[in-house]
Amino acid sequence: MNIDSYTNLFCLIGNPISKSLSPYIHNTNFKYNDINAVYLSFKVENLEQAILGIKSLSIKGFNVTLPYKQEIIKYLDNIDQIAEKIGAINTVKNINGKLIGFNTDGLGFMKSLKDRHIQLKNKNILIIGAGGASRAISFTIANESIKSLTIVNRNKKRALSLIKDIKSKYKNLDLSFLEKQDIKDNYDIIINTTSVGMYPNEKEKPLDTSLFSDKTIIYDIIYKPKETLFLKQAKEEGKTTINGLDMLVNQAILSERIWISENLKIYPFIFK
Ligand code: ATR
Repeated sequence: MNIDSYTNLFCLIGNPISKSLSPYIHNTNFKYNDINAVYLSFKVENLEQAILGIKSLSIKGFNVTLPYKQEIIKYLDNIDQIAEKIGAINTVKNINGKLIGFNTDGLGFMKSLKDRHIQLKNKNILIIGAGGASRAISFTIANESIKSLTIVNRNKKRALSLIKDIKSKYKNLDLSFLEKQDIKDNYDIIINTTSVGMYPNEKEKPLDTSLFSDKTIIYDIIYKPKETLFLKQAKEEGKTTINGLDMLVNQAILSERIWISENLKIYPFIFK
């Protein structure tokens, strides 16, 4: 696709943005779908000015990353329901100057389960971590008729605050905090949302997976390395494992589907 006067610009705003894979994923997928668009990343120091620029240049859509996922909310005209519950935005659509906010992180996670025919209904889920990624995933799965959700996190206060927020939106959900040493083999799916085990600290793991039965699915949202020590141990024990690459690609493509068309295909990405 050649850049011409019809080319649409999409972008990422955040700070820092230099390590982001989003430009690669979006530009590859635009090309794959024959969409006349480019995706750039902008290091933003002043969010208000960036928003004015986006509006005046009629940029059709953009992603938001750290540290602006919450601050962006005050510049939006409308917010999608699940994004509102999460309290953070990673995708914005510009419709004739009106900005609508979405969060595709949790939905990208959900899609990776659906693609593997893994159902969440009546499942007991353990989430490790209580940061931004945990928030997006926790709220999204709280929507899915799960049996229980347990959160374990180094900082107990942060976990309790997340639990309080989820409880205020999902009153009937069986939701609890657990200290690491009290974890037992009670879970169908365990999800690591922390950075423990991520490059360059690949020798760490958030939990010992031998605690759990071989039927437990172990999901690590880290994608660098592709196989964390956490997943490696679980795989050696015969458990089903999922890494963060599908979630990474899915959240990006779900953004494109919001911006451009529900029918966009997904390029078969292979990451080293
Ligand atoms: P993200 O947006 O990627 O979720 P974040 O909001 O900074 O990033 O959250 C990082 C998560 O990883 C938190 O749950 C954090 O635990 P704390 O709340 O206790 O800080 C967790 N985390 C990061 N480094 C950790 C470590 N070395 N050990 C245990 N947990 C860690």
